[in-house]
Amino acid sequence: MNSQEIRKAFLDFFQSKSHHIVSSSSIVVKNDPTLLFTNAGMNQFKDIFLGNVEKPYNRAADTQKCLRVSGKHNDLEEVGHDTYHHTMFEMLGNWSFGDYFKKEAIAYAWELLTEVYKIDKNILYVTYFGGDEKENLAADEEAHQYWKQYCEESHILPGNKHDNFWEMGEIGPCGACSEIHIDLRSDEEKQQICGADLVNKDNPLVIEIWNLVFMEFNRKADKTLEPLKEKNIDTGMGFERLCMVLQGKKSNYDTDVFQPLIQNIATLSNNVYGEDAKKDIAMRVCADHLRAVSFAIADGLMPSNNKAGYVIRRILRRAVRYGYTFLAFNEPFMYALVDTLVEQMGEQFPELQKNHGLIVKVIKEEESAFLKTLAGGIQKFDKYIKDNPIGKINGGFAFELFDTYGFPIDLTCLMAKEQGREVDMEAFEENLKRQKERSKNAATIKAGDWVEIVENFKDENFVGYDEYECQCHIVRYRQVETKGQALFQIVLDATPMYAEMGGQVGDQGVLINGEEKHVKKLMRLTILNVEVVVEYILYYGKKMKIIML
Ligand code: ALA
Repeated sequence: MNSQEIRKAFLDFFQSKSHHIVSSSSIVVKNDPTLLFTNAGMNQFKDIFLGNVEKPYNRAADTQKCLRVSGKHNDLEEVGHDTYHHTMFEMLGNWSFGDYFKKEAIAYAWELLTEVYKIDKNILYVTYFGGDEKENLAADEEAHQYWKQYCEESHILPGNKHDNFWEMGEIGPCGACSEIHIDLRSDEEKQQICGADLVNKDNPLVIEIWNLVFMEFNRKADKTLEPLKEKNIDTGMGFERLCMVLQGKKSNYDTDVFQPLIQNIATLSNNVYGEDAKKDIAMRVCADHLRAVSFAIADGLMPSNNKAGYVIRRILRRAVRYGYTFLAFNEPFMYALVDTLVEQMGEQFPELQKNHGLIVKVIKEEESAFLKTLAGGIQKFDKYIKDNPIGKINGGFAFELFDTYGFPIDLTCLMAKEQGREVDMEAFEENLKRQKERSKNAATIKAGDWVEIVENFKDENFVGYDEYECQCHIVRYRQVETKGQALFQIVLDATPMYAEMGGQVGDQGVLINGEEKHVKKLMRLTILNVEVVVEYILYYGKKMKIIML
C-alpha cells in the first residue's frame, strides 16, 4: 500500500465503525498558552474531554499534523540522525467521547492492525499500566484481560507511569494507556534477544506504533487527579512508522512519505542517497524540516524571532546549515522542494495547495538571508584565526558562531581542522548547557486551573462584524506564569476583537474599567475559538468597555 492508501484505510476503517471523520486542526496552536504547536491528535478535543463544550459527536477519527521539537528523541539537534523520529509527523487517531471504552478501543486497534493491515500478530507486543503507588492508582487489570483475548501472555507487558500513563501536559486530561509495539528485527536477531526485552528500550527496530489512552482524569494544577465526567478514548498512531512497517522498510525515510523529497534533494545536490552517512543525515534533516516549516507556514505562522516563529526559523536554519555543510548548497535550495511536497500531500492537506506560492516565497527569503549570515560567520571565523594564530579555538567563540550565526558545531570543528586546530569542546558544551537552561526557563509556561466567575458560560458574543467596542464582563480567568512573570488570562463575555487568519497577529485594544475611568491599559487580545483571552490584567466582576484600536 502506498502512504495515501494506508491513511485512507485507517479513516475508512473508523468510518465503518461509526466515527465522524474530522479534519486535522492547525499545526500552530492558537488557543492554548501552554502549547506552541499541536503535539497530539487530542489537542483539538481537549475541551470536549474536560466537558467545557458540548460534544458534536460521540466518535471521531482523523490524521493530525503534529510537531514535536523537544523530548528525548525529538530534540531538534537529534532529528535526522536516526530512522524514526521527526519534527513534523502525522498522528492517526480515533476518539470516543463518553461512548466506547477499553474493550472496543483494543478490539478496533487489533482488528485494524491484524485484519486490515495484515500485520503478523507474532511481531506485536502490547503494554498496559502496571499501577503507581504514589498516585494511588491500581494496575490496569481490565486492559490486561482484554488483551489476553488477542495476544499470548508473553506478548503483554506491564509498564510504569512514565510509559503507560499519558498526560497532555502539566495539567489537563490524562489516563492510563496501552501501547502497541512492533518487532521488525530479523529472525536471527529475535533468537538472540526476545522482543519483549526490547520494548521501550530505544531499539530502532522494536518501536511503538500506537498508543491507546483511556482518558478518565483531569490533572489539576495542584497535581491531584480529578475524574472526568465521562470515560473517553484517545489514540495516536505514528503514520510514518506505520508506513515503514507496511512497506517493509527499516527506516521511515525509506517510505514513499519521505523518498520523493530525499530523491529531489539528492538530484539537486548531485548525490546518491545511501552512499555517505553524513550526506544521508543531511538529506534526512532537509526532508524532515521542509515538512515542518511548510506546514507551519501553510497554517499562518511566519519565521520570526520569538516563540513559535522562532522555532520554525531555527528548524529552517538547521536544514540550510546541513545543506550548506554536507551537500554543498551555497544558494537557497529548500524552497525548490516545496513543489514535491505539495504534490505529495496537497490533496490530504489543501492548505498546502492554497498557500503554495507563499510557502515558496517565505522559505526562499529566509534561506537567502540566512546564507548571508553564514557568510558573515565565516568572515568572523577567519578573523579569529588571524588574531589567535595558536591553541584551541575558544569554546565561547564557537558557541557565539553557533548561537548568533547558526553554525553547527561540526562545521566549526571542520573549519578548525582545516587550519590544523581544535575547538575547546568542553567550554562549548558548557555554554550550550547554560543556554539550554536559559531557554527552558524562558519557554516554560505554567498555567493554573480556570476559575469560573460565571458558571458554564457558553454564549461568547463576537460583535466585531458591526462594532469596534462593546460592554463586557470577565466570565473566567486563570493565572499563568511565563518567563518568570505572573500574568492573568481572562475570558470575556463579549468582544469586537478577532485574531487574523492563522492567529498570528491578534487585534489590539484597550480594556477600560468602567468605574475607574483613569485606568486604561493597552493589551494584546486574541480570539481563541469563541473565547477571548486577554493577558496582563484582571478586573473582577466589573462592567467594562473594550475598544478596538
Ligand atoms: N494522545 C496520545 C499520544 O499522543 C494518544 O500518544
